[in-house]
Amino acid sequence: MASRVLHLLSCAAPPVLDLPDVVERAKADGWTVCVGLTPTAADWLANELPALQQQTGNPVRSTPRRPEDGEVWPSADAVLLAPATLNTINTVALGLTPNFVAGCVTEAIGKRWPLIVMPCVNSAYATHPQFGRSVATLRSAGVQVLLGKGGFQPNPPGQGDRKTYPWGLALAAAGSCAQ
Ligand SMILES: Cc1cc2nc3c(=O)[nH]c(=O)nc-3n(C[C@H](O)[C@H](O)[C@H](O)COP(=O)(O)O)c2cc1C
Repeated sequence: MASRVLHLLSCAAPPVLDLPDVVERAKADGWTVCVGLTPTAADWLANELPALQQQTGNPVRSTPRRPEDGEVWPSADAVLLAPATLNTINTVALGLTPNFVAGCVTEAIGKRWPLIVMPCVNSAYATHPQFGRSVATLRSAGVQVLLGKGGFQPNPPGQGDRKTYPWGLALAAAGSCAQ
């Protein structure tokens, strides 16, 4: 059986630094993984990019392709946006596509692909009025947003610990929606 394809799209929040481990876990779950990063996340992981590419066997992408170039990734059985920053959540809820990751997510919403978003925001960001509106917009479009019970629970500013980011819940959700 051909392996399922996971588009793992990540933003600039601390759990992105654990992406090499997360890719290993996803591969152990039977996924072929394609990693996409926001420009800031790609900068944070600059030293890891060649290893991530080797690990996944697919180009790590953070910039849109040129018009003359074809698609380089196989199409997705599931798309996971994690960690999802306040910035990218609000961006995609508004249908804006300023970078590669936002473009992928916005298109996945329109195509009704299985899409999971797991935020990583502190409680100050989470109480910004736009955040709640964005989460509601995404859920109303059929996106599975893992926030609160069964997902990411915001901590007060400065008290988050990237090691407690519930990657396992995100991977389990991706596995369930791609069956
Ligand atoms: C050390 C550090 C930690 C950060 N943690 C978060 C976070 O957990 N959640 C968040 O929404 N933004 C966080 N930010 C801010 C984002 O990195 C910033 O808003 C960035 O513009 C997000 O860009 P992106 O959504 O394109 O990845 C953090 C910034 C720094 C420097």
